[in-house]
Amino acid sequence: MKRKITPSIMCADVFNLEATVKEFEKNGIEYIHIDIMDGNFVPNYTLGTDFVKALKRKTKIPLDIHLMICNPEYKLDWFDFGEGDYVSVHYEATPHIHRAVSKIKSRGAKAMLAINPGTPFSVIENLLPDIDAVLVMTVNPGFAGQTLIKSTIEKIRNLREYLDKNGYSHMEIEVDGNVSFENACLMSKAGANIFVAGSSSVFSKEGNLDENIKKLSSVINTGI
Ligand code: DX5
Ligand code: ZN
Repeated sequence: MKRKITPSIMCADVFNLEATVKEFEKNGIEYIHIDIMDGNFVPNYTLGTDFVKALKRKTKIPLDIHLMICNPEYKLDWFDFGEGDYVSVHYEATPHIHRAVSKIKSRGAKAMLAINPGTPFSVIENLLPDIDAVLVMTVNPGFAGQTLIKSTIEKIRNLREYLDKNGYSHMEIEVDGNVSFENACLMSKAGANIFVAGSSSVFSKEGNLDENIKKLSSVINTGI
């Protein structure tokens, strides 16, 4: 399956966003990951509805909106997204996850089901016909710069195997949290194919954005 990079825009320099987005376009970046937090589902605030609107106007790169908010089914209408975009909602964030997923699909976007490190992937079973991807959180959501929860690598492997065995080999697996060059290699081998690139990789101070994107792309595609 094609390996894709979705840089986490909350990790970018806010005073340099235009140049950053141009660099994404130049490098053929597939998605832009936007973290939305509500200070309730996760203990932090980050970007919001106006940011999504502005970014959508600025670039043709599809968005990958990660909603870390309670009861997203009532708030999806606040966000600007449509065909080609991914929107992820957390299984843990609502008793009406099916309603949330259906609302995303009714807008023509692709629905991604996000699961926290403590949630078994088996919860996706009844949602499989309604979703396009699973987002496996590899840290507890809320903050950049955390350390990988190692058990999530096995979870990715088991999920990939489960999807392939059950007729969902086309379903994408996104990983989010401490996707460093080293960890991305492990995640890719385990079967993930969309990589949220934050402070651990493309926005790492070790190299510039262009070099880091090329390095991550090489690691996820060839393991080098
Ligand atoms: C975690 C966020 C991530 C984060 C990833 O809640 O969803 O997008 O920014 O970046 P690093 O590489 O810092 O873990
Ligand atoms: Zn995220």
